[in-house]
Amino acid sequence: MQNKIYFGDNLPILRSMPDESVDLIYIDPPFNTGKRQTRVQIRTVQSEAGDRTGFSGRRYQTVRLGKKGYADLFDDYLQFLEPRLVEAHRVLSPRGSLYLHLDFREVHYCKVLLDQIFGRASFLNEIIWAYDYGGRTKKKWPPKHDNILLYAKNPDDYTFNVKEIDRIPYMAPGLVGPEKAARGKLPTDTWWHTIVPTNSKEKTGYPTQKPLGILNRIISASSNPGDLVMDFFAGSGTTGASCLELGRRFILIDDNLQALQVMAKRFAANPEIEWIGFNPAEPQ
Ligand SMILES: C[S@@+](CC[C@H](N)C(=O)[O-])C[C@H]1O[C@@H](n2cnc3c(N)ncnc32)[C@H](O)[C@@H]1O
Repeated sequence: MQNKIYFGDNLPILRSMPDESVDLIYIDPPFNTGKRQTRVQIRTVQSEAGDRTGFSGRRYQTVRLGKKGYADLFDDYLQFLEPRLVEAHRVLSPRGSLYLHLDFREVHYCKVLLDQIFGRASFLNEIIWAYDYGGRTKKKWPPKHDNILLYAKNPDDYTFNVKEIDRIPYMAPGLVGPEKAARGKLPTDTWWHTIVPTNSKEKTGYPTQKPLGILNRIISASSNPGDLVMDFFAGSGTTGASCLELGRRFILIDDNLQALQVMAKRFAANPEIEWIGFNPAEPQ
């Protein structure tokens, strides 16, 4: 199968895909899901002074209940994510796994949701991606990490290529001897990695772009050459860029025209991509 990039809402596209057809899924969904976050709740009450006339000529007034509370926002967010995660679980191949990239505000709600969909036993890791960038609050510990949840479809048998993982320097190389120091050590579940550096070649201009180094580590460990990797919140297409580097096939989906335009530029040198719902050659 050719690499594919879809322009559109991911849910109907996911629903059209066959069971157990994807070997690895990485997603980095936006918390800001548009209207769902800013909706103001209203209630209609009977009132002689009301501004609307309803059944039997009664007058009604619309009462604004104010913006949704924090818990309601998460309810909406989970309602948005849940059907997509159910599809992710369905399309994963028997040895496949899912990486869900979140931040410290959302991760706990999503952990509970994924435990329900995959089963608690399928939870393998919460990866902490730590970086050092931007201002630091003086009112609490400055949050400088993202959280990436890893679930396997089958916790007893999944792809994990430990030999393919990039090694990192020991903190005290003098204590381990020159051979080990030269080889470096395996990373743990806490990854120190810079954000995409401004003015770097990697930078696409897409605001939520994730570093290629993070995706390369995930894809090397949790898929094999030739496997099919999917990212259905693709943004600037980092997952696709990593697949091209590492010899994996990919499916990317995004419903934002700007994301498709960025990907068209990023993948301009790769004619082997099938674009669905979008023509990269046409000025948009
Ligand atoms: C946080 S960004 C992903 C960034 C990406 N990881 C990267 O490295 O560039 C989330 C993306 O999800 C897309 N998105 C949001 N809702 C979607 C939906 N229902 N279907 C498809 N894409 C959606 C947004 O347009 C946005 O590009």
